[in-house]
Amino acid sequence: MEKLLITGGKPLEGEVKISGAKNSVLPILAASLLSDEEVIIGNVPHLQDVTTTISLLTEMGATLSIDEKMKVCINASSVNKFYAPYEMVKTMRASILVLGPLLAHFGEAKVSLPGGCAIGSRPVNLHLEGLKAMGANIKVEDGYIIAKTKKLKGAKISFPTATVTGTENIMMAAVLASGKTYIKNAAKEPEIIDLANCLRLMGAKIQGDGSSNIIIEGVKNLKGCNYDVLPDRIETATFLVAAAITRGKLTLTHTRPDTIKIIIEKLKKAGAKISVKNDIINIETKSKLDAVNIVTNPYPDFPTDMQAQFIALNSISKGKSKVVESVFENRFMHVQELVRMGADIDINGNTAIIKGVKDLTGAPVMATDLRASASLILAGLVAKGQTIVDRIYHIDRGYECIEEKLTKIGANIKRLPK
Ligand code: UD1
Repeated sequence: MEKLLITGGKPLEGEVKISGAKNSVLPILAASLLSDEEVIIGNVPHLQDVTTTISLLTEMGATLSIDEKMKVCINASSVNKFYAPYEMVKTMRASILVLGPLLAHFGEAKVSLPGGCAIGSRPVNLHLEGLKAMGANIKVEDGYIIAKTKKLKGAKISFPTATVTGTENIMMAAVLASGKTYIKNAAKEPEIIDLANCLRLMGAKIQGDGSSNIIIEGVKNLKGCNYDVLPDRIETATFLVAAAITRGKLTLTHTRPDTIKIIIEKLKKAGAKISVKNDIINIETKSKLDAVNIVTNPYPDFPTDMQAQFIALNSISKGKSKVVESVFENRFMHVQELVRMGADIDINGNTAIIKGVKDLTGAPVMATDLRASASLILAGLVAKGQTIVDRIYHIDRGYECIEEKLTKIGANIKRLPK
């Protein structure tokens, strides 16, 4: 397995162009299944999860081309297999996003049930209950969700927990259903608005996205479109922490500062100097930061996808801090690895208590999931000596050209072959 070798200690300086958002492009790629016309998607990040989704759509029979600028052009009129196999779903849970569009457009779908994953059990019961309320006939057999319908009907769906991909699946099912669908306690993440913007361009009638009440009026069919995905707020925030942890100076371009207000607020509170203009964020950190307390929760609160990176930052900041993980039950796998690098962290249930240490030291560490990998790389960038991050395939799922981008701003980071 490939590894990353990082020699820490250099402040990062320079400019980083932020890529398109992983969590936007995946549902938007799935949305292409809703139309018989060409859907062209721009600002597509070069990520393993995108490659997996593209293979999935191709396997289903979609016609697909990608140009040198990563513009993806999909025509789903030739889709004739309505099937997402276990081999694909197990590497990428977001494959579940094809369920709603397949049912809505073709009336049937067979999608592997995602299993547990490193960060918790992550069920899809709410996706299934929502689709059942819309009239789908759903059974689970041999680890597969088998869903059929003559025609989905609008319904009133109230989620007991706000779910991001659950909201997206129901939205995509509802755009072609007969009548109106009301989603209560919908997720409010910027990626939901991005999907709604793309669907509206295809002719869908959606209101209220970005709030907890979404109303969708079904239409007969959707047309093609040409749409650029939103910049990645988690990549943006990860590079802000990279500047903060190495006491560097970065300019992030092609981003959307309004989608990470809480991150900017926390970093400013910790002592980083940040300025924002249009799609650019400047950050400068000259001295050690103060540790900050965090509680993860759905948007617009602090994102669970930035928890691991902030634990790395807090572990070498001044003072004691508390980080509470409220979204996933088992998302502290990076902590033991950070402790091996000299961090002082205690876990009690869903709370991590971090006492800032003077220095971290390089060590061989193991990445367990996507955001955990990012936190170990950040720790490696500031640690004394060399850090080897193993199982780096996780990072390639969600960060485009991570070592190229880091090298360009002065990091000493190298990919070691298998
Ligand atoms: C999405 C993001 C992921 C992010 C997460 C939380 C994508 C592709 N992934 O994941 O990066 O970490 O949101 O912001 O967009 N739940 C249920 N039943 C369900 C569905 C969810 O109980 O049917 C629970 C989950 O266990 C979790 C909570 O709801 O505790 C939120 O999960 P959810 O928003 O669904 O996460 P994902 O959509 O899988």
